[in-house]
Amino acid sequence: MILFRTIAEMREHIALARGHRLTIGLVPTMGALHEGHGALMRRAREETGYVVVTIFVNPTQFNRPDDFEKYPRDLATDLAFCERLGVDAVFSPDAKEMYPAGLHQETPVASVEVAGVSSRLEGEFRPGHFRGVATVVAKLFNIVPADRAYFGEKDAQQLAVIQKMVTDLNFPVTIVPVPTVREPDGLAMSSRNQRLTPDQRRIAPALYKALCEAAKSIRGGDDTASATRAGLRALAAMPEIRVEYLEVVDPATFQPIAQDDQNIGDVRIVAAVWLGDVRLIDNLPVSIR
Ligand code: PAJ
Repeated sequence: MILFRTIAEMREHIALARGHRLTIGLVPTMGALHEGHGALMRRAREETGYVVVTIFVNPTQFNRPDDFEKYPRDLATDLAFCERLGVDAVFSPDAKEMYPAGLHQETPVASVEVAGVSSRLEGEFRPGHFRGVATVVAKLFNIVPADRAYFGEKDAQQLAVIQKMVTDLNFPVTIVPVPTVREPDGLAMSSRNQRLTPDQRRIAPALYKALCEAAKSIRGGDDTASATRAGLRALAAMPEIRVEYLEVVDPATFQPIAQDDQNIGDVRIVAAVWLGDVRLIDNLPVSIR
């Protein structure tokens, strides 16, 4: 496994892999790797000939400076993790390499805005977040011209934003969604879970349980408003949890599902909550037939 710190070296090396006619699989991450990231890497390893993992804590997608500063970073452990999973190359640039013009708001730079799907929920509660995500992923696609790129359903709205960016801007890459990996008690794996206190960690699976309640309600034939209420009721039983949103949405557009819509098919129940100063998101897909 080779570690690249600069765009030029990464590009040169990818050109070699392409020369050997290897299909290239890309797994973008911000590090603090866990088995959720592991599932993306294993899938890439199975499906492509040359696997590149990127590790870059992207400053432009954090809307709160304290979240960026507290984001866990441990490159040595991450590199060992990638090596164990048979990754071929890791690209881990610093902020200066990715944003040579600097990060000041007033610096004019090009960015990618994915209209519509970016506007609600995560987009509303984290202003600028999806512009940061779409822009850095577009840059990574241009640095590592991959055949397939792997994204987790854990961040379902991010996945929808990237899919729309790739479709609308004709990026020559196939986006592969990978199901959410959970702890045995249901909590979705996340780098931010490290920041929960032992008490908060015990409470955190309530988010998944609330999503399950809402899913059960939908499967039982309830409309989306009743399902939402069922989910919110489950969360209200936990005074430590502050709910930002819980909604039933269309998985491609992230628009709310009309309450009386009878022929909706696949929907996603999405939620964001705070436990102390840690923000957790999770979601569940549900088919309505
Ligand atoms: P990060 O949070 O490190 O996640 C990297 C990838 O791992 C994302 O596609 C995410 O959805 C996936 N992932 C995280 N936890 C998961 C879990 N429990 N199960 C399955 N997949 C999981 O998402 C980002 O980084 C950044 O926004 C990035 C796309 C790298 C752009 O900076």
